[in-house]
Formats: sequence, C-alpha cells, structure tokens
Amino acid sequence: MYHLRLLGIVIVFGAAMVRADDAKSSITKREFGRMPNGDIVEIYSLTNGGITVKVITLGGIITEIHAPDRNGTHDDVVLGFYKLDGYLKGHPYFGCITGRYCNRIAQGKFVLEGKEYQLAKNNGPHHLHGGNVGFDKVIWNPKEIRRDDSVGIELTRRSPDGEEGYPGNLDVTVRYLVTGTSELVIEYEATTDKATPLNLTNHTYFNLGGIRGGSILHHELMLNASSITPTDETLIPTGKIQPVKGTPFDFTEFKAIGKEIDKVGGNPSGYDVNYVINRQEGPGIPLAAKVRDPKTGRTLEVYTTEPGIQLYTGNFLDGTIVGKGNVSYQKHFGFCLETQHFPDSPNHPDFPSTILRPGHKFQSTTIYKFGTTK
Ligand code: GLA
Repeated sequence: MYHLRLLGIVIVFGAAMVRADDAKSSITKREFGRMPNGDIVEIYSLTNGGITVKVITLGGIITEIHAPDRNGTHDDVVLGFYKLDGYLKGHPYFGCITGRYCNRIAQGKFVLEGKEYQLAKNNGPHHLHGGNVGFDKVIWNPKEIRRDDSVGIELTRRSPDGEEGYPGNLDVTVRYLVTGTSELVIEYEATTDKATPLNLTNHTYFNLGGIRGGSILHHELMLNASSITPTDETLIPTGKIQPVKGTPFDFTEFKAIGKEIDKVGGNPSGYDVNYVINRQEGPGIPLAAKVRDPKTGRTLEVYTTEPGIQLYTGNFLDGTIVGKGNVSYQKHFGFCLETQHFPDSPNHPDFPSTILRPGHKFQSTTIYKFGTTK
C-alpha cells in the first residue's frame, strides 16, 4: 500500500512538474488570414523563457516578439503588422526569411560553372533579397518542434530549379526555437541538386523601446567586427575589407547608433553595410552584436556562425507605412542585424563562398538573446 501511495505522490508531483514546465513554455497556432488565392496563412505563438515569438507561414515572417523591460513589463519589440493585409500591401522585408540570396547581387548577374545567369533586377540595377518573389513572399510548410530546452516551428519548402532564375532544386529548412533562457535560435539548412548561390538571413526590424519606441538612434550598439565590406553608392561592395577603427562605422565599443550616423552618408542616409565578424577562438557560437536601450533597459545579443552581419538602420522607412498601434514607421524607427554571407559574393571570389553544391548541406545558426540591464 505504501508503495502505491508513494507512486501516487510521485505521479502527482511529476504531473505538477510537467504542468509547471508547460506553464513556462507553449506553442499555439491559429489561422492568421488567407492569401488572395485562398491559401491559408497560419500564425504560431512560441512562448518560453519569459519571451513570446510569433511567426506566420507566409515568408516565415516574425510578426511579434514580446520581451520584458527592466521592470518586467513586456512590449512588442519588432516592426510589422497584426493583420495579414499589412504584409500583403508590400513592406520592406519586415521579419522575413530572406533568400535564395539575401542582400544584393550586382546587376543581377553571376557566372557559375562557366554559365552566366541573369536574375531579376528588382532593386534599381541590382538583384535584392531573392528577386521579385523571394523567400519572403511564399508560404512555408510548418511543423511544431519540442526539444528539452525549447519550443519552436520548423518551416520547409522546395525552391524549384529556375525559381527567380536560380539553378537547382533547393530544399530549405528554417527552424525558429525559443529557449528557456530567452533566446530565439534560428537554424538554417539547405541542400541542392545543382550548384547554386545561397545566402539566408532573417530580416527582423527591432525597436527595444517597444511598439511606440519611436527612433532607435539612442539605442547603444556594440559590434564584434573590426572591418566592413564598403560599398559604392548603389550598396554594392567594392571588394575591399576596410578597418573601422577611428571611423563613424566603429562600434567595437558601445556607442549610440545615432552618435555619428550623420557622418556615414548614403542616400537615404544611415548605416546600411556588412560588417566582417571578428573570428572567435574556442567553442560556442561567436558573438556578433550587443544592443541596449537605456530608456527601457531591454538588451539584445546576437550570436552567429555566419561571417557577416548587415547593420541597417531603417533608412528607407519614410512614414508611409502604418504598422502596429497605428504607428507611422518613420526613418530609423527600427534597426536590422542581418546575419549573412557578404553581399554580392558570387562576384567576389575572395569573399567566403556562397556556392552550395550537390552532396553538401548548408547549415548556419543565429541566436537573438533577449535580456535586461538596470
Ligand atoms: C537590406 C538592405 C537595405 C534595404 C533593406 C530592405 O537591409 O541592405 O538596403 O534594401 O534590406 O528595405
């Protein structure tokens, strides 16, 4: 009898433990809306470690991230919309999986295995973010994931041979995992049956001040990067690797994003450049960036296996897009830290290669870790 009672106690305690864990982490889903052709778009809500991340199956777009401030008050720290029609009207890649090749390819052209390819020129004279119908504009196939320390969603799709002009049937997997230590982990994987350029990122615009955070120019940024790949006026790399020391591009020590932004030029002005992440000895995924908002105490750390990270300070935002909370997104109302390979790498043999070949698997991991500071 004693053993049965003991077993009963263990079962109840165990159930309580599971329930407690479940209370800390959860996955929910619902219909978010319907595409013009009737396809259903679902939204998944992933809660763990005191944060909540919401993702829709259209473009793998991260629509919301709720994180606490220094007083424990949660707010949504990413730009976007609460309804599908905001995303259908057109937007500057809010929150999306970006590819087949994120960032730019000069003139939309590259030569691979002796053949010249011409991609869409959807950004002036160049190709940007996978073309007219990039990975941000298609529906991904979802599957819930539960691991010991995280809950998430796995998004898969096949990008067929010739999609947007790219060679090869490319099978892509992107996993968003929310951990018990307030991290959003993004795992990218891809295989192909023909050699193809590949560069994948997530294009979330952050504002650690929350929905009504306004300008991000007071946010303080540290980049673990001693050099950039400078660009011409059309944002195509010159091919140089340029040290940032002593220049307005230097964020090797914490500095307000806006402190020297007026010195970097650009049209529209602001930061929009790839940083070369400093190599890190030893185990673990290298640190790429740290951001803190002195007003709310929210912090963000970025770790990645990728060699580069694009600092983009929302220069093209001009108030014409009205997002969450009926906020008009003005210039510099959000910042992006797009982990990536370097822009236009297919045309720069001395940049780390972005060519994926049959028989190989592309894998990369990026971690966005949320926290607070007094
Ligand atoms: C990337 C580019 C920017 C801009 C945004 C999307 O961040 O580097 O120039 O095109 O995408 O608006």
